[in-house]
Amino acid sequence: MTQAADADAFVDSLVGELTRHPVNSNRFFQTFLSQRLTKSQLQEWLGQYHYFCKQFVKVLEGLLSRTPVDELEMRVQLVKTLHSELGSGRSEHAHIRLLERFATAAGLNETDLQRISPLPEVAEYLAVLHRLFIEADYLTALGAELAVEVTAAAEFRYFYPGLLRYDQFSADDLVFFELHLEAEDDHGLWLADAVRKTAQSSADLNRVATGAQTAVQAWQSFWEGIYRGVFSELNPPAIPWNN
Ligand SMILES: [Fe+2]
Repeated sequence: MTQAADADAFVDSLVGELTRHPVNSNRFFQTFLSQRLTKSQLQEWLGQYHYFCKQFVKVLEGLLSRTPVDELEMRVQLVKTLHSELGSGRSEHAHIRLLERFATAAGLNETDLQRISPLPEVAEYLAVLHRLFIEADYLTALGAELAVEVTAAAEFRYFYPGLLRYDQFSADDLVFFELHLEAEDDHGLWLADAVRKTAQSSADLNRVATGAQTAVQAWQSFWEGIYRGVFSELNPPAIPWNN
């Protein structure tokens, strides 16, 4: 087998590992789909999730600025991902704006969202990504971003069908979730392509894998934190949706 074929097999196997990782069917996702959340539970989840989504794009901009000038293939795939996140040139279509459209429907306005302080696990996931993207070497960073994008596909297979069952939300309110059933798959493919074209040796590929594994572990903790925050006794089901 050629070296390129070896690298392809390594990337396929890493993407397969990320796709099969237990975080993709964690207990928060399963509970979200199997139970009807109260208004306060839904708002708690959404506030934390919005905080993460908003800050994440800025951290990704940091990774782009840290990518070496000669790594053109990696820079191209990162720009495509950022361009997509920021609405493909139309700010009103920026993904964070679409999520804020849903937030309005769920009873959280701009001021409410600005007041959110992150749960420790949410802050920690952003801190881990910041460290991997900005302080680690660019191959570790690339692996971390591959993991972010590949594992970001699963949540929408729970959130979108889960939210469709709430009468309060129109199709327009749910555009963010509907769109991401497809968008994140593209991002994962772009990043896998970036790895194939950037990692040149087995040492490079090992750094990619280390970044991916560190990121996916922090993503698992993120959802454990959200589960605790949303379903703990401190957040009782006080306000039924229809009242
Ligand atoms: Fe997005």
